[in-house]
Amino acid sequence: MDVLVFLGSPRKKGNSEILTEALLEGVRDEGGVEEIIRLCDLKISPCISCGGCNKTGKCVVEDDMTPLYEKIITTDKIILSSPIFFYGITAQAKAFIDRTQALWNRKRLMQIKGEWVDNPERQGFFISVAATKGARIFEGAILTMKYGYDAMGIQYAGDFLVNGPDKRGDMAKNDKKLAEATKAGKNFILGLSAHVD
Ligand SMILES: Cc1cc2nc3c(=O)[nH]c(=O)nc-3n(C[C@H](O)[C@H](O)[C@H](O)COP(=O)(O)O)c2cc1C
Repeated sequence: MDVLVFLGSPRKKGNSEILTEALLEGVRDEGGVEEIIRLCDLKISPCISCGGCNKTGKCVVEDDMTPLYEKIITTDKIILSSPIFFYGITAQAKAFIDRTQALWNRKRLMQIKGEWVDNPERQGFFISVAATKGARIFEGAILTMKYGYDAMGIQYAGDFLVNGPDKRGDMAKNDKKLAEATKAGKNFILGLSAHVD
């Protein structure tokens, strides 16, 4: 099964990437084959709210987001990881999500024409880390991701969230969470609950 993975942190080998790698071990164990896309290596302009996609479901801005639309439409499983920056996902990940407005319009137009079919096999997963332990630290990011996956026509299947890691590599010291992430990755591919006891 193909899995499209978006890394949202600007920090290479950072905490969210380490956590993502642990989760991907579980994905591979269950036969998932991932393509990893580092959003910071791409030039993705923020949505300019031109309305160009309203009638076509296609974005008029041509940049590194352009080829990603087809990948999103044709892949059943998507994972996005991002650290928390100011109670949300990173600016790079947010620009990517905002540009899925074209897919939201594509879905809306297909629904009007009776061409849209919900596919429960299409599922999205969110991975995040935050330095602090505030009870509501992930709430904004989860809402953004739920709505983003909805625009892509994908069900939000779950998330794996870790409080505490801050300095690069902190995440590597938490063997328990890394093992749980691997389990969550397996469950994601198997279509089971992402919850790990
Ligand atoms: C610009 C910026 C904003 C941040 N905002 C928050 C925040 O609002 N809450 C929090 O708990 N941590 C915040 N952090 C800390 C990161 O979430 C933390 O360092 C995380 O481990 C970074 O993950 P990474 O190594 O994958 O980039 C912020 C870090 C940066 C650089």
